[in-house]
Amino acid sequence: MDWYSRLRPLFFCVPPEAAHGAGLKLLAWIGAKERRRERWRRRWPAVEDPVTLFGLPFPNRVGLAAGYDKDGVGWRGLETLGFGHLELGTVTPEAQPGNARPRVFRLSKDRGLINRLGFPSQGAAAMIDRLTRGRSPEAGSHRAILGINIGKQKETPLRDAARDYRLLTRMLAPHADYLAVNISSPNTPELRELQGATFLGRLVDEVLEERDGQIATLGRKLPVLVKISPDLDAAEIDRMVGTLVDAGVDGLIATNTTVGRRGLLSRHRDQGGGASGGPLRDLSLRVVEQIAERLAGRVPLVAVGGILDAADAADRITAGADLVQLYTGLIYRGPRLVQEAALAARSAFGAVDRTGFDSASGSVAKTPPQGESAAPVGSLARAEPASEFDNDRR
Ligand SMILES: Cc1cc2nc3c(=O)[nH]c(=O)nc-3n(C[C@H](O)[C@H](O)[C@H](O)COP(=O)(O)O)c2cc1C
Repeated sequence: MDWYSRLRPLFFCVPPEAAHGAGLKLLAWIGAKERRRERWRRRWPAVEDPVTLFGLPFPNRVGLAAGYDKDGVGWRGLETLGFGHLELGTVTPEAQPGNARPRVFRLSKDRGLINRLGFPSQGAAAMIDRLTRGRSPEAGSHRAILGINIGKQKETPLRDAARDYRLLTRMLAPHADYLAVNISSPNTPELRELQGATFLGRLVDEVLEERDGQIATLGRKLPVLVKISPDLDAAEIDRMVGTLVDAGVDGLIATNTTVGRRGLLSRHRDQGGGASGGPLRDLSLRVVEQIAERLAGRVPLVAVGGILDAADAADRITAGADLVQLYTGLIYRGPRLVQEAALAARSAFGAVDRTGFDSASGSVAKTPPQGESAAPVGSLARAEPASEFDNDRR
């Protein structure tokens, strides 16, 4: 049993948001001193699987999903856990409190979570302040790619939403390696309507225009990705992917949390909000498969949703994803999942023939495995049975 498995029952005795806050504090503490960072990097060595996507050098294919570190308070500590990228945010233009508590619930029997946080954010200026204080990488240190996920202010009406995303693009472009446009959270009223035909084209055009206007100043083209909901039907997904690729986005992220609740066992299953982890696993994989097929490698695809073990990560890569991201799996499995998923993603990518895809996008650089021994995809272990986490008193 690793230390996280021993600590988890303690974490699970306090309400989820309090446990999360304590975890972030610990990560901020680890990240504050180079000596500590070095010790943790040695404990959780990053899997070497370098890949260039959107013109960015990712150290490996596993990232932290948005929402874990919304304000960038723990990113220097998170970086020591072996992630190839960290997606901070969702950040909104101004500070806002989010929804009333309680707003996060464990679905222990389903190895999932429900959250209806509603973008609590300290605002873009606070995020920038933190990033500029700690950015310079030490020589030779593992350097994760830093994405920032952006969202509109709760009060901003949909017809003005493009203004918020434009402003955030302008403010954050100098501080991010990529931006992720979040129009798929179920917890900000009407947000997901931005995925519909009425708004999507104009919204993305405005963000990309703002981004293009910064190329000369920044000396680089900031990749812009869009994050998609799993609760769309096949026709909506096809239309959305078509619109986004035609508009010129650099990549897609699939998926956000689901409002679906089919077959759940946990006490809190009827709480409102978005479900993640186990309850999202199959749905999210199906959406990733559909998007990958529709994309045919024209832009890279990041898969997120229900990755709880190595086999889940491998399944997403086999389905056509280029990168994977973790959130709920980290809560149930701890940091060891990062390395497990990265090894599995590396093996899975090695086993998939992407030759057709590579030539189409020119962006997927396949790298042969090196260093750590990689398990064959078919032999990847599933995580512990749900009974190990069978505690949803809170
Ligand atoms: C507590 C919590 C907060 C989240 N906050 C955000 C967010 O601010 N922005 C966002 O794009 N996704 C957010 N997400 C969604 C995750 O990034 C991810 O898409 C989703 O949880 C599915 O991945 P998972 O099953 O590995 O958790 C959040 C998820 C959780 C559980």
